[in-house]
Amino acid sequence: MGRRRINIAIDGHSSAGKSTMAKSLAKELNYVYVDTGAMYRAATLHAMKERTVVDGVVNEVGVRAGLDRMYLSFRYNPKTEQSEIHLNGVNVEREIRSMDVAQKVSLIARVPEVRHKLVAIQQRMAEGGGVVMDGRDIGTVVIPHAELKIFMTADPETRAYRRLNELKSQGKQVSYNEVLENVLERDRIDSERAVAPLKQAEDAVVVDNSELTMEEQFNFLVNLARTRMQDQP
Ligand code: DC
Repeated sequence: MGRRRINIAIDGHSSAGKSTMAKSLAKELNYVYVDTGAMYRAATLHAMKERTVVDGVVNEVGVRAGLDRMYLSFRYNPKTEQSEIHLNGVNVEREIRSMDVAQKVSLIARVPEVRHKLVAIQQRMAEGGGVVMDGRDIGTVVIPHAELKIFMTADPETRAYRRLNELKSQGKQVSYNEVLENVLERDRIDSERAVAPLKQAEDAVVVDNSELTMEEQFNFLVNLARTRMQDQP
């Protein structure tokens, strides 16, 4: 009793620390972490390689046709101790984090056929339970029956400040105002998108981590997950 592997859906604003938390939680529970943002980024890289998205212009017919030539998989890398995304057999974990991909991903993530294909893959991955999946539409569209749904957020200023520190640590020169504008713009795009916009599932537990340390947040989530597991028949 209480041993059934549950699914945990983590949605929320960008730079709210979803992936860091989702990874730690998966490790602690011995669950599989699925980074759905990486899948949308890899689909974008695929479209860039096929030149169906060029300079901010999308050829939707081309993107749709290209989906038949896109094979995504996650493979565990013992060196990084993470599972890393592969596009047609090639590890693209680093390449998908480039600015170029980041700037184009919202154009590809709003193509319905792209979402349809990726959601189907994500649903298959969650079929057996034991998954911590993060994204924007996980609790609302991908696994609406997830036993635990988290909606993670922090105020835009806190998120911009964290993102600024991250960029600075990578040696990138940007101003706080630039980063804040980008955070607000991404919030707007994510929430106003016609297909699968970012929205809080009614039964999600809202975690605003503006005033929480990583450790406080982690302990809170682990306890929550363990309680949900106990509640399972
Ligand atoms: O979480 P991230 O920044 O790596 O996500 C990259 C992009 O993909 C971002 O623009 C939002 C989009 N995305 C989405 O539309 N649906 C998801 N489930 C995950 C990400």
